[in-house]
Amino acid sequence: MTVSAHQDLSTILEKGQADIESAQTSRELEAVRVALLGKQGSVTTQLKQIGSLPAEERSAFGAAVNRIRSELTSALEARGLAIQAEEAEAAIAAQRVDVTLPGRGRRTGALHPITRTLRRIEKIFSRAGFDIAHGPEIEDDFHNFEALNIPKNHPARAMHDTFYVSPSTVLRTHTSPVQIRYLETHQPPLQVIAPGRVYRCDSDVTHTPMFHQVEGLAVDKDVSFADLKGVLIFFLQEFFERDLPVRFRPSFFPFTEPSAEVDMGCVFCEGEGCRICGHTGWLEVLGCGMVHPAVFDQVGIDNEAYTGYAFGLGIERLAMLRYGVNDLRTFFENEIRFLEQFA
Ligand code: PHE
Repeated sequence: MTVSAHQDLSTILEKGQADIESAQTSRELEAVRVALLGKQGSVTTQLKQIGSLPAEERSAFGAAVNRIRSELTSALEARGLAIQAEEAEAAIAAQRVDVTLPGRGRRTGALHPITRTLRRIEKIFSRAGFDIAHGPEIEDDFHNFEALNIPKNHPARAMHDTFYVSPSTVLRTHTSPVQIRYLETHQPPLQVIAPGRVYRCDSDVTHTPMFHQVEGLAVDKDVSFADLKGVLIFFLQEFFERDLPVRFRPSFFPFTEPSAEVDMGCVFCEGEGCRICGHTGWLEVLGCGMVHPAVFDQVGIDNEAYTGYAFGLGIERLAMLRYGVNDLRTFFENEIRFLEQFA
């Protein structure tokens, strides 16, 4: 073998070994491998020369090239394993979870303002000794009207914009039918509230086809209008957490006699007069009265022995006044930015 061919080979070997050692990634190492042993690689090129050498040199040269090829191959393999190990370490380090990092913020849900208001109302009346009852939203004509002293073709039916399910079934227009259902199944003395959805065929800034009411009913041997006033004034003071004036205005409901509507001093202007209260200084908040003897007759309660009071209040109305909301419809649009304010 000529001296120069031999020198070429040792240069290739040394350079190859240096390149292998300095490769830092599998990619770089692969590039080195191709440069040495690939089709155009420096070792491969040497191998291809064998045929053009004088016959007596071929075997020695061939053996020398094969030796450096196998040396470089093992060096590549060794470096390859080392790099793989380093890369695996790095991957593990990169994936490690730092359990001491603060958590990502999570949005928590909140109760709907109507639900919050309802719960608040229930809590206050529970404290005053009232039970809680529920009735069906699809109601028959008897419970929604007839038993409440609103016979067929009575003009008072016009007060209710009724959704009819069938000629004798309606979506209840108020929670008052629960009064009847409760009296059918319970004996006085009793004190109960009945919250729930009610439906009226009506829709504008102050009306939605579905809204919520809380009915109240108390029956005992000598329940008086003074008891009714006491309970409602207590409730309004607790609910609004303020000592606002309350007044009872004569009104009419077929199922109560006498009947009254209750106003309280405007929570926005404190009675000065503003747009919300129509410059009267008063806000109407509920309807009430003494249970009509005809209602007791319908459920077989002795109307000589017993008296009772009833009231009905609108939950949306109270929520609007408490939270200062001026459009009823916002409660039903489910705009998250609106609802979030009550969290
Ligand atoms: N049910 C009546 C309404 O919806 C309210 C009411 C209930 C009035 C109980 C008096 C007594 O308007």
